[in-house]
Amino acid sequence: SAAAKDGYDYFMLKEIAEQPKAVADTLLGRIGADGELSLDQMRLSDEELREIDKVVVVACGTAYHAGLVAKYAIEHWTRVPCEVELASEFRYRDPVVGRQTLVIAISQSGETMDTLMALRYAREQGARVLAVCNTNGATIPRESDAVLYTHAGPEVAVASTKAFLTQLIACYLVGLYLGQVRGTKWGDEIGSVVRDLSDLPSKVDQVLETMEPVRSLARELAGATSVLFLGRHVGFPVALEGALKLKELAYMHAEGFAAGELKHGPIALIESGMPVIVVVPSPRGRSVLHDKIVSNIQEIRARGARTIVIAEEGDEAVAPYADHLVRVPECPTLLQPVVATVPLQVFACEMASARGFDVDQPRNLAKSVTVE
Ligand code: G6P
Repeated sequence: SAAAKDGYDYFMLKEIAEQPKAVADTLLGRIGADGELSLDQMRLSDEELREIDKVVVVACGTAYHAGLVAKYAIEHWTRVPCEVELASEFRYRDPVVGRQTLVIAISQSGETMDTLMALRYAREQGARVLAVCNTNGATIPRESDAVLYTHAGPEVAVASTKAFLTQLIACYLVGLYLGQVRGTKWGDEIGSVVRDLSDLPSKVDQVLETMEPVRSLARELAGATSVLFLGRHVGFPVALEGALKLKELAYMHAEGFAAGELKHGPIALIESGMPVIVVVPSPRGRSVLHDKIVSNIQEIRARGARTIVIAEEGDEAVAPYADHLVRVPECPTLLQPVVATVPLQVFACEMASARGFDVDQPRNLAKSVTVE
């Protein structure tokens, strides 16, 4: 009903708008005044977490993209090797998991059969399983050793938005918590990241306030046949998520690539006028990556691509090569997916509605897939 949508045309729009609150609610109560993290249903002892020698994330769809971001954060903050695997592949390839493996199962619904079967397999091998889930008491958290609930609230639209942002937050919290318990050399950095996390709700809000140009661009490009997404580092999973959203909602050919792979094949796809969305890492910090992606943008533009560039405020180096520039607030590289994903959600949603499709109920898809 219209009332349930709070005046929005679609649940997806409502859920996109709820993201600042979803992020804030997922952080709530988990960061103490001293910056120490406490995760309510962690249930794994510090001792057990210190014994972990490998993390394996299993998930499907959008949740898998959150897992890809988790890998960058967890390895950087904890120095514990982290793999990410599509849940549907995991148990069929004889993966190396055992008592010292922490398996993180990410699932909004907590009922996805592929993810559930992966976690059952992991437990049979003796692994400890931590669920990141948005649904209280769902099967996946019930069958896990520990749970970190995301507090996105009920998500109705089939395409995940606010649940994804909170999955990112949960992954950061797990990574930082592991770092805290294990006392890694990133101890000092952890304190400052914890402060940066608290700034994210207002940054997401800022992004939401500047989305009108993204909506009109989506309407303008509604006739495109193909859209490419490029990113590097944590911008790569963001590119994959942007492409998935467009496939799910606008039924359009869309692909996400690691920008460094462009020259190894995908650049052959570039045609005159083809929209290419590029997620640009911060020029501060990992500036080498920034410079490389700027030259990628120049390369695709020289081949006729229409470049839509998502870049941090104050990043002037990209401006000359951007046909359309979408600004996101400054934040540390690892946290950038929280702000950079939002324009891609808005873009896909608007594109789908411009093409006349049902944004909340895309064809052939289900909110929760309970078959393998
Ligand atoms: C379905 C949905 C996707 C979702 C995936 C994983 O395929 O259509 O939007 O990302 O399941 O769902 P989960 O509930 O496990 O996060």
